[in-house]
Amino acid sequence: MKILVTGGAGFIGSAFVRLTAPVHSIVNLDKLTYAGNLDNLKSIEGHPNYTFAKADICDAAAVEAVFAEHKPEAVVHFAAESHVDRSILSPEPVVATNFMGSFQMLEAAKRHGVSRYVHVSTDEVYGSNDEPHDADESWPLIASSPYSSSKAGSDLLALSYYKTYKMPVVVTRASNNYGPYQFPEKLIPLMISNALDDQPLPIYGDGQQVRDWLYVDDHCRAILSVLEKGREGEVYNVGGSRALANLDVVHRILEITGKPESLMVRVKDRPGHDRRYAITSEKIEKETGWKARMDFEVGLKATVDWYVANREWVSRVKSGAYRDYYSQNYGAR
Ligand code: NAD
Ligand code: TYD
Repeated sequence: MKILVTGGAGFIGSAFVRLTAPVHSIVNLDKLTYAGNLDNLKSIEGHPNYTFAKADICDAAAVEAVFAEHKPEAVVHFAAESHVDRSILSPEPVVATNFMGSFQMLEAAKRHGVSRYVHVSTDEVYGSNDEPHDADESWPLIASSPYSSSKAGSDLLALSYYKTYKMPVVVTRASNNYGPYQFPEKLIPLMISNALDDQPLPIYGDGQQVRDWLYVDDHCRAILSVLEKGREGEVYNVGGSRALANLDVVHRILEITGKPESLMVRVKDRPGHDRRYAITSEKIEKETGWKARMDFEVGLKATVDWYVANREWVSRVKSGAYRDYYSQNYGAR
């Protein structure tokens, strides 16, 4: 199958490309923002199944040119501004890419009549889950941040293209991912890289917020399974079945890296901070046979090992622009 992947130079998109390029033909459309990094794709760079197209999903003409040249049969749409804290500091590019960029992708896919369109959404569209049970796909969308609400908007827009135009859309809503090549702005890679550098580990608020951790390759296999077996017009939650408070995650990272607890510092909480995400993945498990395989302890150790072995990758992405973001987000806390 010829698949157009957007955001394939980012964390999850590059894992998906590395996983699928040996069996499918992949065109990777990416703008290469601060989060996009072609170093993540070195292992498949020269592969005959793989092509890269530098383009912005908000640029309708550029998106059309990629569709016209490559004529993909399927689309997997990852490209997004993916970080909650950046979306709070600077919402405009987040709304532009996540909503309008997704709109341009849907329009191009409609014109070109693709046979499958996977829109990669997030469990954050449900907002904080303060109920005693896990959210299934019928839960209302009550997003909190500019990031999650722009994702909720594009998630609904994608579903509207199924309802209105009968486009073969499938939406996935995954929980928090972790693994190699994740940009060190998100909790796990930030804590690992700071710990390795003996830098402070900033804990927002009381550190008791709960996230459900999903290993990135498990997420990519879930996307493949709905690409092949998901029903059109349906939403599939994808969870790691491993809910942990942030403080527990950071303690485990300190244990694995052998660094002292004194590195942890409590800082001012994130505004609008969702307390708890909790979803059930029963639907995708029943319908496609997918199940998260990676044990969290094993996955976290493998992730720390990757960051230890790839200090150069980390120091390259912690560029001047990263340092500016870091002082903007953490300096005043
Ligand atoms: P990331 O920030 O690591 O990568 C995003 C990629 O999109 C980068 O390669 C970037 O260059 C590209 N991009 C950004 N704006 C673009 C634009 N305008 N045009 C073209 N390319 C653009 O993100 P990620 O963590 O890999 O997340 C990928 C997708 O998965 C996102 O849609 C995100 O909402 C979703 N998701 C992420 C998580 C998570 O825990 N990271 C969980 C659930 C869902
Ligand atoms: P993050 O990785 O940004 O993902 P999301 O907000 O999309 O779930 O954050 C995960 C959790 O970790 C969230 O509750 C916020 C918290 N957090 C910190 O306590 N300190 C930090 O420096 C970061 C980046 C996150």
